[in-house]
Amino acid sequence: MTKAMIVALIPLLMGAAPAVSQDADAGRQIFRDYCVTCHGMEGRGDGPMTQVLTIAPPDISRLTDDNNGVFPVSNVVAKVDGRVPVLGHGGPMPIFGPVFEGKAGALDSETGAPILTSETMVDLVAYLETLQR
Ligand code: HEC
Repeated sequence: MTKAMIVALIPLLMGAAPAVSQDADAGRQIFRDYCVTCHGMEGRGDGPMTQVLTIAPPDISRLTDDNNGVFPVSNVVAKVDGRVPVLGHGGPMPIFGPVFEGKAGALDSETGAPILTSETMVDLVAYLETLQR
């Protein structure tokens, strides 16, 4: 975490409302740039890379459905930013590079506890929620 991120997180830690609002349109662009090759345009696990992958990308438009109607925010953030290494995302060396670093952001987890992350991740999560069916 950079010094700028820590400074930006101070108001969040002090209980102020998150300064960042979720921008699903920006999230759509992140998804198209970094995820569709494997997960497909609608997140159904049918991107063009599936032909060369030995582990099939899961259908991520069913995450809410598979989690009793609640979008699994913590699981998604952890598996995308590498807190929980996912082989298909490069394991301990995530394939997304520095895209999820930079400006700080926060999300509410399923339990209501804040997840400290980046603004890019906040936007991506907003878009992923729109893909749920
Ligand atoms: C190189 C192909 C590839 C790319 C690019 C990719 N993924 Fe994945 N993703 C996978 C594979 C394969 C798995 C399952 C891996 C495993 O179980 O080890 C996975 C798993 C996931 C999971 C876990 C789903 C669950 O059931 O817990 C989520 C969420 C996810 N990906 C989201 C994303 C997002 C968001 C992006 C873009 C930022 C992305 N992925 C980019 C291949 C990819």
